[in-house]
Amino acid sequence: MRLHIFTQLTMMCVGHAFLISADHCKSPSAATGFVNEKYYGLWYEIGKMQTPGGAAFEKDCVCTTIDVSQVKGATNGDATAVNSCRKLAPSGEFLNATGSLTDEAVPGHWKEGFFPLVPKVDYRVIYLDDHLAIEYDCSTVLWMTNYCVHLLARTPTISDADEQKLLDFANGLGLNTQNIPYKKTLQNGCW
Ligand SMILES: *[C@@H]1O[C@H](CO)[C@@H](O)[C@H](O)[C@H]1NC(C)=O
Repeated sequence: MRLHIFTQLTMMCVGHAFLISADHCKSPSAATGFVNEKYYGLWYEIGKMQTPGGAAFEKDCVCTTIDVSQVKGATNGDATAVNSCRKLAPSGEFLNATGSLTDEAVPGHWKEGFFPLVPKVDYRVIYLDDHLAIEYDCSTVLWMTNYCVHLLARTPTISDADEQKLLDFANGLGLNTQNIPYKKTLQNGCW
């Protein structure tokens, strides 16, 4: 009997530990053949899977773009990512936020910080070709894991096949641990 209770408790603990550990940041490899220069420049956000607690300023975003450039004179990979979008509608006010990409551990794997004192997030470009990219950022603060998988392209829209290809790639890596529905980003009527 005692053994039985002990076994049950153990199983509960294991079950609980599993629930917590199922939700943590993933460590996908950076895109094969990644070089910073290929990532620099303007990207349009095609869509994303983002946890509700993620970057709050992105919640109301449409017409979202990211403009990545090397920090002037930097030789350590430091870069700037200007996140720009419009609030709720293409005519809405600009919601811009400049992220600093620092601590590039391997090409394509940075830390991103928006404000001093706010913890930086892990920032990885996990897919990159001449036209498309996927960026995964994630942070765990007080056991709360927040992440965003951004599908990016050099053009405001892409083919359904390309979009599906990127989604399959991200899902194949098991990045969407909280099963957040994919949300397409409005890019029509923005320019
Ligand atoms: C926001 O960013 C966009 C794109 O870089 C730029 O055109 C616009 O002037 C910026 N607006 C504000 C208010 O910073």
